[in-house]
Amino acid sequence: MKIAIISDIHGNQDAFDKVMEDIDKFKPDKIFCLGDIILAGYNPNYICKKITELKESMKEDFEIIQGNTDKMIANCNKDLIKRTKEAFPCMGYSLEEDVKITKQEYIDFVRNLPENKYIEINGLKIQLVHGSPRSQNENIYPELTDNTILEMTQNSKADLILCGHTHIPCGYSLSNGKTVINVGSVGRSMTKDKMPVYLQLTVDKNGKFFVEHKIVKYDNNIASNHILSRGFKHCEDLARMFINE
Ligand SMILES: [Fe+2]
Repeated sequence: MKIAIISDIHGNQDAFDKVMEDIDKFKPDKIFCLGDIILAGYNPNYICKKITELKESMKEDFEIIQGNTDKMIANCNKDLIKRTKEAFPCMGYSLEEDVKITKQEYIDFVRNLPENKYIEINGLKIQLVHGSPRSQNENIYPELTDNTILEMTQNSKADLILCGHTHIPCGYSLSNGKTVINVGSVGRSMTKDKMPVYLQLTVDKNGKFFVEHKIVKYDNNIASNHILSRGFKHCEDLARMFINE
């Protein structure tokens, strides 16, 4: 059984298309998406259309959960925009604009997504989360201690926990036998070269699994210019995050 896991697309059409081309070559039986599909990119409607089409065509072989920024889009109001502008100006202005341009059917789609999901494959219990099993907003970064990750994941009943949110790929084999893998980000990768990352997971008939983070190349300058062309206040800060400076 082969599974491709994507996360944090953030409305980045070019990165998503390149990752899907690579996933087509992998020929997965299933695709999982760990949320954050809309905010802070340049084409949220394109991503939502593609994601809903995948869900329709793959049916139970496509799983998607809600990310923290999907929830922000779904629950957006003036107070949330104000608070986000104060804390992180470019995200606040992006939130304000993305809610205006994203079709209502897609806002409803992300509103109704579950926050986490358990899936069992050949006896392997997998949990899909956005941040950590206990919070959509918690960061599972590289170089945390075993004890820190054990605490974050203590309520999970899974053997394998798959997460995103930080946009930085990493993985942990814990002392209790569980594995935690942050799959990285398709659309706003925070790796050194800012290239899209997704996870290839293979589960054998006994539930033993193998994983590989796959880095995909694309023209991040084009994506950066698309963001810049949106023209809202502080969009240049968002655009700069796409490129290596
Ligand atoms: Fe994200």
